[in-house]
Amino acid sequence: MPIDVAARVIANRPLSTDYNVLALEAPAIAAAAAPGQFVMVKPDAGFDPLLRRPFSVFEILRDSRGAPSGITILSKRIGPSTRLIYDAHLDQRIDCLGPLGRPFSVVDPPADGWMIAGGVGLAPFATLAQALRARGVKTTLFYGARRAAELFYLDFFRELGVDLVLTTEDGTAGERGRIVAPLDRRLALREASATVMLYACGPEGMLAATAKTAMKYGRPCQVSVERVMGCGLGGCYSCVVPMRSDDGGFHHVRSCITGPVLPADQIRWE
Ligand SMILES: Cc1cc2nc3c(=O)[nH]c(=O)nc-3n(C[C@H](O)[C@H](O)[C@H](O)COP(=O)(O)OP(=O)(O)OC[C@H]3O[C@@H](n4cnc5c(N)ncnc54)[C@H](O)[C@@H]3O)c2cc1C
Ligand code: FES
Repeated sequence: MPIDVAARVIANRPLSTDYNVLALEAPAIAAAAAPGQFVMVKPDAGFDPLLRRPFSVFEILRDSRGAPSGITILSKRIGPSTRLIYDAHLDQRIDCLGPLGRPFSVVDPPADGWMIAGGVGLAPFATLAQALRARGVKTTLFYGARRAAELFYLDFFRELGVDLVLTTEDGTAGERGRIVAPLDRRLALREASATVMLYACGPEGMLAATAKTAMKYGRPCQVSVERVMGCGLGGCYSCVVPMRSDDGGFHHVRSCITGPVLPADQIRWE
């Protein structure tokens, strides 16, 4: 059952002029959250924004005894909610409902886990990387951003033992270009008998390209889709995604309850 709390802001760390990490005191949500799940957040009691917005659970915070005490969200400022999240102050109360949605399914060795992140699509991969590494899964993060200054938490992933493959659109870090290019090359080199699970989160175009690449090499791929979400609970149908049906047609699912994590090969990409 999702939990609705007026969570206290316990830290707000700007990462750049647009990105920040907001820490919320929410022990019950932290204890229940699984990698890939999200929370619906309303940073202000006023009418703009009127509705809550979805954010992936970025990190699970723990107290000195190791008990879950809160969560963080990684936010990119693009509109009213994310502006308020960027400017949130200590002790402010923020309505937070979660955890919501279906999480990633976490593989076990000998499968490798390859995470593909575009921009703020990094958000669900901190907890997924921890879960994969805790099971001893060899884990790689393919992470693309516009520029070097928008690649965050690299040391966090390195310390977990995650291999990093980086791209930037302007070439200021890693390879110049889009992240699907090195993913394609790595998949081409991988023996068919060596199992790998792909996990992707990012802009729609990147997800579609990742799904196509996964299908080209016959690899399973779970994508976390980003749709506009009005309620996060299955009630408003703002978040539907077209999925292939067995009869060759298609049907829609509500990505807030059937997803946000969906099998890439079953989505009808436009
Ligand atoms: C499951 C899920 C998890 C998410 N996790 C994160 C996260 O961890 N960090 C983060 O920064 N953002 C995340 N998002 C996206 C975030 O919820 C939206 O960007 C949100 O609408 C921002 O609210 P806002 O009020 O600042 O801007 P809004 O006014 O809501 O949006 C500004 C502009 O972006 C467009 N827009 C809004 N949402 C989307 C969308 N999903 N896809 C494409 N365009 C959109 C709007 O149409 C509008 O033009 C997630 C979305 C989903 C569905
Ligand atoms: S967000 Fe309302 S049904 Fe999915």
